[in-house]
Amino acid sequence: MKPHKIIAIYGSPRRKGNTAALLKKAIEGARDAGADVEEIVLRDLKMSPCLEIYGCLQAGECAIKDDFQMVRDKILNAQGLILASPVFFYSVSSHTKILMERFQSLWVKKYWVDKTPKNEPANHRKGMFISVGATKGKKLFDGLLLSVRYFFDVLDMELWKALLYRQLDFQDDVLKHPEYLEEAYSSGKAFTTAIENDFNG
Ligand SMILES: Cc1cc2nc3c(=O)[nH]c(=O)nc-3n(C[C@H](O)[C@H](O)[C@H](O)COP(=O)(O)O)c2cc1C
Repeated sequence: MKPHKIIAIYGSPRRKGNTAALLKKAIEGARDAGADVEEIVLRDLKMSPCLEIYGCLQAGECAIKDDFQMVRDKILNAQGLILASPVFFYSVSSHTKILMERFQSLWVKKYWVDKTPKNEPANHRKGMFISVGATKGKKLFDGLLLSVRYFFDVLDMELWKALLYRQLDFQDDVLKHPEYLEEAYSSGKAFTTAIENDFNG
């Protein structure tokens, strides 16, 4: 049987930062559980924000041609997605936000071009979200979680799990918390098992 495909997206501009370290651990766990994981580093890609020209009204295809199409196809062909972004101004990073915005073309395809009924239950796939912030406020992740839930919704994904860690600021801060890294590893493993159960079940 072919292993299940998971796309892992690094949304921080910092290559070796906290979210990257946590995502690496989640990937390790997913691979150890048998998943085929492909990694995408957003800061290495050329991707414009949505320009609201609504070229996608024609056939649901984004009119801006850049690396978005490649990432979109990979995500749409995978059974799972692990997205990692730090908290920037109580939102996701700009790199992550740009990717989310470009999926407006898929929203347009689903609801305006194909006229998919909005109340149709469609959580066929699973997504996991990893985030960290420097401060410790109760609402630190509220804005991000709203954006991520809505983004996963467009992708027909449920937010299976969110790993959210406060008070991590400097690049290596997460390394002082092996328990966070361990949780990321075991979550990556459990995520793969959950996907397997869905697709084999
Ligand atoms: C542009 C920018 C905006 C930030 N905004 C917030 C914020 O609103 N709240 C917060 O707690 N931390 C904020 N931070 C701190 C980061 O969330 C923190 O440094 C985090 O560990 C970075 O994750 P990374 O190492 O994966 O890039 C901000 C950092 C930057 C660079």
